[in-house]
Amino acid sequence: SNSDANTDTQLQQICDLLKENIPHYDWVGFYFKNGDKNELKLGPYAGAPTDHIIIPFGKGICGQVAVSNENFVVPDVKAQDNYIACSITVKAEIVVPLFVNGENIGQIDIDSNTPDPFTAEDERFLEFINTEVAKIL
Ligand code: SME
Repeated sequence: SNSDANTDTQLQQICDLLKENIPHYDWVGFYFKNGDKNELKLGPYAGAPTDHIIIPFGKGICGQVAVSNENFVVPDVKAQDNYIACSITVKAEIVVPLFVNGENIGQIDIDSNTPDPFTAEDERFLEFINTEVAKIL
């Protein structure tokens, strides 16, 4: 299952590695669709604790990706009206959906304290990460 202890340990290691090795990744976490509820639930993450453990589908950048099935790159979080602030230090965000057997089952979410840091290279890299993660779920 995607919530057993071994899987969570591996996802935690991925979060820690990404946060520590990529300077513009300041918060790295996985959200997963929560059973048959129309909401996301926070999984393993690295960075400051967030109040946003549960995010309804459609709310914020994460909730929008849960329904769009598309990457969402936000160069400036202040320019977004459907955005959930986790920390006042965050300037930008990228969310990439996680597909298992073609189904959007969650996402990787990265916050950056650097303005407009995310490129197509980040999108391709995080898609690759999620393809690898899908194999362990
Ligand atoms: N900013 C996100 C909420 C999750 S925090 O970044 C950890 C959003 O707007 O969905």
